[in-house]
Amino acid sequence: MRRNLSLLGVALALLLAAPPAAAKDPLAPTGRWSANERGAARTPPMGWNSWNAFGTRITEDKVMGAAQALVDTGLARLGYTYVNIDDGWWLKRRATDGRLQIRTAIFPSAATGGPEETSFRPFTDRLHALGLKAGIYTDAGRYACSQAFDLKSPNLPVGTPEERAVGLYGHVDQDIGLFFGDWNFDYVKVDACGLADYAGKSDLVAQQQYLPLEPLMERGVLNRTDIAGLRGLYVAVAEALQKHRPNGDYVFSICAWGQADVRRWGKEVGNLWRTSDDITPSWTRMLHTYDSAAGRPLYAQPYAWNDPDMLEIGLGDFDENHLVEARSHFSLWAMLDAPLLIGTDLAKTPRPLLDILGNADVIALNQDPAGHQAVRAYTSEDFEILVKTLSTGDKAVLLFNRGLAPMKAILTADHLKMARGAPIALHDLWSKEDMSFTGETSFVLAPRETRLFIAKGRRLLPAGMYLSELPGAVNVAVDGVTRPEVDPLVHRMVNPWAGTRGPGERPAYGGYGGAQADAAPYGTNLEVAGRVFGAGIGILAGSRLEVRNTGRWRGFAALVGVDDNTRNTGAKVRFFVYGDGRLLAKTKAMAFGEPAQRIDADVTNVALVELVARPEKNEPLAPASIAWGDAAFLEAAPAQRGKR
Ligand code: GLA
Repeated sequence: MRRNLSLLGVALALLLAAPPAAAKDPLAPTGRWSANERGAARTPPMGWNSWNAFGTRITEDKVMGAAQALVDTGLARLGYTYVNIDDGWWLKRRATDGRLQIRTAIFPSAATGGPEETSFRPFTDRLHALGLKAGIYTDAGRYACSQAFDLKSPNLPVGTPEERAVGLYGHVDQDIGLFFGDWNFDYVKVDACGLADYAGKSDLVAQQQYLPLEPLMERGVLNRTDIAGLRGLYVAVAEALQKHRPNGDYVFSICAWGQADVRRWGKEVGNLWRTSDDITPSWTRMLHTYDSAAGRPLYAQPYAWNDPDMLEIGLGDFDENHLVEARSHFSLWAMLDAPLLIGTDLAKTPRPLLDILGNADVIALNQDPAGHQAVRAYTSEDFEILVKTLSTGDKAVLLFNRGLAPMKAILTADHLKMARGAPIALHDLWSKEDMSFTGETSFVLAPRETRLFIAKGRRLLPAGMYLSELPGAVNVAVDGVTRPEVDPLVHRMVNPWAGTRGPGERPAYGGYGGAQADAAPYGTNLEVAGRVFGAGIGILAGSRLEVRNTGRWRGFAALVGVDDNTRNTGAKVRFFVYGDGRLLAKTKAMAFGEPAQRIDADVTNVALVELVARPEKNEPLAPASIAWGDAAFLEAAPAQRGKR
């Protein structure tokens, strides 16, 4: 729809813009970016964590050894600055005043004043003196994961049920104040076993004499999960962090393993949120955690990152005998804008693996300031192509052989959203070779091999960019999912803990039906009345997208309609484009089978564009799938384009 700039048009636009009284309507424009922008995670956090290397068998020497190695190897200079201790550091919660006590047998520097007076301050001071940052681990419930799953650990909390309740539950303000005030930590990972595994009727609680807490979540069952209640506990942590670190120098890591629909709301609350259960040093487990984040590029942006878990480089299938796998794992995490947290014993890491972790070109992709997570340009169980837009406008492209057979892979200009007729230059980020092609080229990839390039070429859209090329500028404020569903599009492997006991791995992570870049919500082609869109955003009706006009674009245009694979073929949907809260354009109600209709708007001087797809009737049981086909920012405003 073209916007008529007549007075009447402006008056109409004002009338149509949602009145303040409708503020509770989640589809009303706000003119405001609503994803989290607090914390020190403008780019994905980088550093080291003790868990994958040592489990709960941590010691101060091991952690300081890792810290020193980060400095000595030069990795710290490349950005790996957080040194995070995980589960196992605590002794108990002091009975008199609830202050947490450190296990000084493993952290001797914490013995600052007799057995009942401990402090991590000497430890964090040493890390800070090395130019590093310090991270700590806790749980949102009363008890941590080791207290349920690692009962043979020598480092479990001791004492009465109350003294062993070392998690945040009931102590958020006190503990966050202690961690970030007295102890001067800079990063906190907040696990969730305390909210899942300590039901009053459980054998664990009876045998270990824990204080019971009715679970707020059941893994894999969203209908038996109190999503709002669980989210609320994490919001309280975020508020305590703001209170105790008002300068924003903190990182908040939510560790709810893809449960409780955290893949949808994590970006509103924390700086990173685990999108899956734990990684292990196995190739197929890596595929599983990778998939849990790879389908979610529109849900991550600066300060808020999908977390497919920590790196396993140096261990198991990613050790020095598996450099192909190690390079793939690292390349994938870089492209996903995943936190880069090393999980190996750095004191013993061979040079070839340090070289992988220290590939400055690959790190630069991950730390690119635009924060656009890679989008899947080609996907299958065997082979994938990921493309990530860089702040320079160039693309990083990754070819990924997931399987066990060699693969002939064809890379096309279309995958890169580049012009078919112009040469495309490729720079290999591992071999440093340069090459170029026009139209398409091919590579043979060994099993599990990844090729990673920077691509420079002429854009397919000469004077604009598709929104799906700019996922870091898109915040899915409301994705239209009314009943969260578990996502079947995640690689399922033999569970590393259960083996083949039980029925096998079931889909477990909420988020199915969420917004997709270049695909429809449930993973099919983006398609309206038989017209397939190679670019665009697929989302459910009843949705609102916030899009930052970071490129000073002057035009917005899309071809919109009800998606051919909608679950609801009866629904009608109207499309609205707002600029800084004002209505700029809208369509009539569109039905299934109607050809896509063009909607465009002048976004000159508009900072935030909002795209709303509003169903005519509320149909919470079956929202329609809709397409913002070819949705793009353009250099020229619609009227100017018309004049040309
Ligand atoms: C959970 C987390 C892991 C680790 C352990 C510690 O499993 O997901 O990352 O922190 O707990 O017990």
